[in-house]
Amino acid sequence: MKFIIRKATVEDLDTLVEIEEECFTSEAFTKKQLEYCLKSSDFVSLVALVDEKIVGFIIGAVEILGCETAGHVYTLDIKKEYRKKGSGGKLLDAFESILSEKGIRTVYLEVRLDNIPARRLYSKHGYKFIKVLRNYYEPRVDAVMLRKILRT
Ligand SMILES: CC(C)(COP(=O)(O)OP(=O)(O)OC[C@H]1O[C@@H](n2cnc3c(N)ncnc32)[C@H](O)[C@@H]1OP(=O)(O)O)[C@@H](O)C(=O)NCCC(=O)NCCS
Repeated sequence: MKFIIRKATVEDLDTLVEIEEECFTSEAFTKKQLEYCLKSSDFVSLVALVDEKIVGFIIGAVEILGCETAGHVYTLDIKKEYRKKGSGGKLLDAFESILSEKGIRTVYLEVRLDNIPARRLYSKHGYKFIKVLRNYYEPRVDAVMLRKILRT
């Protein structure tokens, strides 16, 4: 399947909200939060298109984490009928390339401990386990923090 990746804009907001709500329940970003990300230059937001239709997106940011400037993936969402076709991986690759161009060397993310598809995807893309974050999303819903050192 041929995916086109482009920067997301605020015109994409309603579609991104729909996809976010399809992908997540309690931990979904709200419309206001997604709008903030799309409008802020601190965020890197990309969409994947098939036949000019948005089928998924990634949102992340460049942040000061401790004593380093690092990338942080906030969310990666693919519409159900387009999963397992490579678009999640392509969005992640494109996000990492943009960060690399900005001189960023490390990317962090959090993912639900029990989210096997996402954990496999991140592991396949070189993300390594850092620690478990107990009660991260809500009581008794744990996350794992993962990190990737980008190639220079
Ligand atoms: C996780 C998610 C983004 C993966 O997107 P995708 O487009 O299906 O992923 P890809 O097709 O690029 O898959 C890449 C790799 O991920 C892993 N993977 C993806 N879906 C999987 C599944 N259902 N079961 C097991 N492994 C899976 C595989 O290792 C796969 O490689 P392979 O096809 O060579 O086996 C997608 O399932 C999704 O949107 N889920 C809901 C939202 C979410 O959980 N987001 C991540 C948390 S931030």
